[in-house]
Amino acid sequence: MANNEEHFKNVISHSKEYGFIFQSSEIYDGLSAVYDYAQNGVELKKNIREYWWKSMVQLHENIVGIDAAIFMHPTTWKASGHVDAFNDPLIDNKDSKKRYRADVLIEDFLAKIEAKIDKEVEKAAKRFGETFDEAMFRQTNPRVLENKQKIEEIHTRFKNALEANDLTEVRQIIVDCEIVCPVSGSRNWTEVRQFNLMFSTAMGSVAEDASVIYLRPETAQGIFVNFLNVQKTGRMKIPFGIAQTGKAFRNEIVARQFIFRMREFEQMEMQFFIRPGTEMEWYAYWKETRLKWHHALGTPANKYRFHDHIKLAHYANAACDIEFEFPFGFKELEGIHSRTDFDLKQHEQFSGKKLQYFDPELNQSYVPYVVETSIGLDRMFLALLSEAYKEEKLEDDTTRVVLNLPAFLAPIKVAVFPLMNKDGLPEKATEIFNMLRFDHMCTMEEKDNIGKRYRRQDAIGTPFCITVDPQTLEDNTVTIRERDSMKQERVAISDLPGIIEQKVSMRKILERL
Ligand code: GAP
Repeated sequence: MANNEEHFKNVISHSKEYGFIFQSSEIYDGLSAVYDYAQNGVELKKNIREYWWKSMVQLHENIVGIDAAIFMHPTTWKASGHVDAFNDPLIDNKDSKKRYRADVLIEDFLAKIEAKIDKEVEKAAKRFGETFDEAMFRQTNPRVLENKQKIEEIHTRFKNALEANDLTEVRQIIVDCEIVCPVSGSRNWTEVRQFNLMFSTAMGSVAEDASVIYLRPETAQGIFVNFLNVQKTGRMKIPFGIAQTGKAFRNEIVARQFIFRMREFEQMEMQFFIRPGTEMEWYAYWKETRLKWHHALGTPANKYRFHDHIKLAHYANAACDIEFEFPFGFKELEGIHSRTDFDLKQHEQFSGKKLQYFDPELNQSYVPYVVETSIGLDRMFLALLSEAYKEEKLEDDTTRVVLNLPAFLAPIKVAVFPLMNKDGLPEKATEIFNMLRFDHMCTMEEKDNIGKRYRRQDAIGTPFCITVDPQTLEDNTVTIRERDSMKQERVAISDLPGIIEQKVSMRKILERL
């Protein structure tokens, strides 16, 4: 089994080789942190989006969807706080001229100490064998305790500095921790400065008319400004939600780790409008509901964990992330935020329009509170892909690369192969392909030997391969091979739709939610 770094590298090259993801404008040497989804990637991405949409909108009678424009009135971003507060603290190394997020440097440093503790535990476990009591060791070993205390101290200093917006102190933490630039190895740091993450452009063809507008940094504001439109036209009663998927843009300072942090990405967000005072109940409800959505995919539960935010965003009174264990460690995959009435109140103030709800049960009007769930579609894609990518040693000592994606998410569900390219087999295969393609993404392949064709489909995660051979012409049966077990079975062509549907249907997964 490759180590994590190697595994990640393999996932990235596999994504390109098998038509999942290409670097944007590759022929011009690419554009940093911008990617294109290729023929298989676009299918997988669409299927993940559909899984989210069905579970959030179709299965909740009190949640509806919208598709708001990317461009919004510039005052939107003044009201939301993004013009003034959507910043990252950045720091430059004077020797390498590289720019970093100051908070990420500190978080990475803390993660390194955490890794030291884990190493210590691992070593002791090996030394003591079966008698090893991990919990006791973590509570008593002097080196572990010393490192724990170090983490606690830095963490507290860092939290206080962020809360007080004290950038001098953030820099001092970097200096005191003796954090070096990974490129130059030096500690020659500039001051820490705030950097706004929004992209701006101009609307209007004549310079004097031009007004600065922003590419939305989150889809959520399109929902907030439409809150009353949807509530009235949909006769929605609180509690209710509005969901949306779409592109968002952020001028990330440190864009790395493939599609994990991009400058153009897609979000799937839902704002749930509730009675003030009930937000902690709904916050807990959505934390649990969203985690269930992830677990239903069959990924081991220990790959996910909750992480409470150190510093709450300007709009939140409680917030956490669902973190996933990517090949480069546990990182944020989804955010769940209790946003209070901050956004609606701000939009009321800046627009001069009332954004209130008349609650017939209470016989009073109020500005609703909001709990939001927000997941990056590209990050979910990366989580699934890095989890699904396997290099398997087979009995005959060869290796196959297989993507064991949940079958309902696989880009292509069925590949149909004529065993030979003659004797009426391609025509029969075409008949089967034509029968199945109305319900599923199918493909047909005639080139190469069957073994190679199987490997190619394994590598893109196709759950079923169907082979048409001379016997098919006699008795209308085919062999169907299942991706993970590689087992082949002879079945009647008339049974194919049922067998395939049973395995690739999204319904089974939705029923688990
Ligand atoms: N409306 C709230 C909001 O936007 P966020 O935590 O800033 O919250 C939500 O973003 C999710 O969007 C993240 O959990 C992540 O999955 C995704 N995301 C944020 N920035 C991203 C980026 N630069 N590239 C890819 N995904 C990103």
